[in-house]
Parts: sequence; C-alpha cells; structure tokens
Amino acid sequence: MLRMLGIETSCDETAASVVALDDAGTPRILSNVVLSQIEDHAAFGGVVPEIAARAHVEALDGIVEAALSEAGVDLGELDGIAATAGPGLIGGLIVGLMTAKAIAAASGKPLFPVNHLEGHALTARLTDGVEFPYLLLLVSGGHTQVILVRGVGDYERWATTIDDALGEAFDKTAKLVGLPYPGGPNVEKAAQSGDAARFSFPRPLRGEARLDFSFSGLKTAVRQVATAIAPLSDQDVADICASFQRAITETLEERVGKSLARFREVYPNAATPALVVAGGVAANKAIRATLDRLCAAHDMRLVAPPIALCTDNAAMIAWAGLERMRAGLASGEEGMLFAPRSRWPLDESASPMIGSGKRGAKA
Ligand code: KG4
Ligand code: ZN
Repeated sequence: MLRMLGIETSCDETAASVVALDDAGTPRILSNVVLSQIEDHAAFGGVVPEIAARAHVEALDGIVEAALSEAGVDLGELDGIAATAGPGLIGGLIVGLMTAKAIAAASGKPLFPVNHLEGHALTARLTDGVEFPYLLLLVSGGHTQVILVRGVGDYERWATTIDDALGEAFDKTAKLVGLPYPGGPNVEKAAQSGDAARFSFPRPLRGEARLDFSFSGLKTAVRQVATAIAPLSDQDVADICASFQRAITETLEERVGKSLARFREVYPNAATPALVVAGGVAANKAIRATLDRLCAAHDMRLVAPPIALCTDNAAMIAWAGLERMRAGLASGEEGMLFAPRSRWPLDESASPMIGSGKRGAKA
C-alpha cells in the first residue's frame, strides 16, 4: 500500500489530500480538503494574485493537518509528498512547493513536483481507471486544451485557445450582463430561462482545418449586443446567456469533433476509447450533453470525473504523484531543487500561443 500527500495552491483553492494505492493497483481517496478563496476575491471580479498568495500562507498548514488527520495517516506513514509546481500564480506555487519541500525534508520522504495540468489529465484514471491512450478536453478559467494522453508524462497537445480560455469567456460574459463572479454557473442558470435563438453570436474558427479554439470574438459580440439594448431586463440577460451558451456548445461540437475524428484516424482499432473532460467548465450540463452526443457519434465514450475532482483539488495532485512513483519517475534530489514554474506546458514541444491562458481571471 502506497500513501501520497498532495498539495495544490496554484490558483485560488488551498487544498491537501491523501490518496492511497493498494497492492492490487486500486486507488482510494483517504481525504480531500479544499478551501476556496472565492469570497476573498469576489469584490474584485477575479482572482487577485497577492491576496491569493497570502491566503495560501495563512491556510495551508491547517489544511494539510486536516487532510492527514481525516485520512488517519501521520507523516511517517506517507510514501511521498506531491505538490503542484506549476503552471499557475507564482506566489501560490511558491507557498505550496516550499511547504511540500519542508515536509519532505523533515520526514525524509521523496518529493514529487507535479504539473497541475498532469493532475487534471490523470484524474480519470483515479476515478474511472481509464486506460491509455485517451483524449483530454481541459476547459477551465485558465486553460482550453485538447491533449492526447499516451502515458504518464507522455502528452501531445492537439489544440489550445489562441486567445481567451472558455471559462474566461463565461466569466467575461457574466460581467458584461451584470451577473456576479464566478460567472460560469450564473450564466448557465440564467440561460435556462432564455431564448437561445434571439441573438446570433459567432462560431469562431468554424470550418478551419486546425484544431484550436478562439473565444475573444464571442465576448466582443456579447458586449456589442449588451451595449445596444441596454438597460438589460432579466429576460434580456437570460436571452443573451442562452444565445451565448448555444454558440459555445455548437463551437465545441464542431471544434472538438475534429479532434475526435483525428483520434479515430490515429487509433483506428481502439475499442470505445475515452474523451475525458476536466476543469470547472465541465460542470456545465449543456456542454456535457453536447460532448456526450459527440462521443457517441465517434464511437467514443465521455468520461467526466465528479465535479469536485474536475475542479481544482489536491487529490489529483496526490494521484499524479502516485502515478509517477509507480512509473518509476521518482525525482530524488531533483525534486528538492525544482523551482516553481508559472508557465509549464504539458507538451513542451508544442509552440506557445500568444495570450493563451495568460489573461484569464484564473490564469
Ligand atoms: O477548474 P476551475 O475551478 O479553476 C481553474 O480555472 O483552474 O474552473 C473555473 C472556471 C471559471 O471560469 C468558471 O466560471 C467556470 O470554470 N465554470 C463554469 C461552470 N462552473 C464553473 N462555466 C460554465 N458553466 C458552469 N456551470
Ligand atoms: Zn485547474
């Protein structure tokens, strides 16, 4: 039995978790403690890096203690410590990684610096035992990517946003129509009573051969409509949200559909391979329904981990540490010397996209 402590502080959640892996290879989440800072940032309409870093400093020790005691595990019983080392807000990364290094040094256990995106990428193996290879659609406030997951540490980025992240588009739309932060859930709620056919918003990059995404034009179109018909009634807000959400689901259907088709070309013999969806936007029911249909059309299956494990958490970081340990990717001395990286692509060979994931509220 292996037990890994995970620490996550890359954005506005302070989180710690203990995950175990038994000899039969079955994982179990022994504790999963997440403290959201949403209230600290709400007044500013987005995450303020300085406030986030200070909040992590104040909360982390207590969160780690809570995760250990809830799991009924003391430091001596751990087999390793995994911490998010990037990408994310540098202040928070420093707090989490330094805390992990201190715990590792004091307990003599190995340290695993984990890429936050790898945590999202491997979660479906913790929750659903998904086998390699599979496709990951990561849709959060800071990232919108399609990644081919071939193995632990073996990733190929197929698509990314060339401007705004999808969650950012939801958050900005919410702001434009006067809904509070975080915007995604509020836009989804308002859309339920809206007329999706009232406004015609663009479907960015539709028909283009590349697999990438773009969402900034959509936000501009929402701004134009909102300005033109201001002041907005509740019905106007609902109609804008519904029309926006339809533009998003249709865009995802077309864009992600191209990646699924490519996956089928690369792996023609894979039996019902998985599309794994992760990130906060994966909570959106209209988007899930669209992806479900899309997967069925490509003889693939949609795997959506429970929402609490789709959004930022430390169980996914502990799990990535266990996957690395099991794959023999222990980091030894190097782990202790690892410096946090605010930008750290999963696929280092993929060319950086100007602006991608850099300007988001949670980027
Ligand atoms: O993964 P996450 O919790 O944090 C990071 O960005 O890392 O994702 C948060 C993002 C926010 O932009 C939020 O508005 C969006 O996910 N989101 C949603 C929904 N719930 C959260 N977007 C659309 N529909 C939702 N139901
Ligand atoms: Zn995340």
